[in-house]
Amino acid sequence: MATNAIAIYPGSFDPITNGHVDLVQRTLRVFDKVIVAIATNPDKDRSLFSLPERMGMVQEVFAGLKGRVSADSFQGLLVDYAERKGATVVIRGLRAISDFEYEFQMAMMNHRLKPKLETFFMMTGESEFYTSSRLVKEVVSLGGDVSGLVPDNVLAKLKEKFKR
Ligand code: PNS
Repeated sequence: MATNAIAIYPGSFDPITNGHVDLVQRTLRVFDKVIVAIATNPDKDRSLFSLPERMGMVQEVFAGLKGRVSADSFQGLLVDYAERKGATVVIRGLRAISDFEYEFQMAMMNHRLKPKLETFFMMTGESEFYTSSRLVKEVVSLGGDVSGLVPDNVLAKLKEKFKR
């Protein structure tokens, strides 16, 4: 059952992984539209991929779902961005217990800042349980194979970045 509500899926997406993709696809079963919102902080940006690169990868991945999934970026507080977009729900994925504390703190803080904005947690799909952008980058940088863990366009970009 889809609603007219817009869900915001915020994160660094440096880069987007198949875990993120799975989460967006499952969110679309409940919400009509998902905005994949890439957070930027020019003062402490240590991303591997530039913002245009990250946006480009997300757009390519969801090209077939235009109209339902869009890529965007924001600076500043997530709650303010969500309000500007008219979104009522923030989606976050939970993998292991280790994610819980950080996610719980963020959800509570966001709730305090904007009580009307809800955070919905989705369990990550089992095959993506151990996938993270950080690990994917580390493995590729050391010559390991991450095919199947990231979309093909992302795999190509990662290989390009770490070309020896
Ligand atoms: O993919 P990440 O790095 O886990 O995403 C974290 C993100 C971007 C969702 C979080 O850092 C965030 O919301 N940043 C925006 C600034 C903000 O609102 N900070 C207060 C959070 S309680």
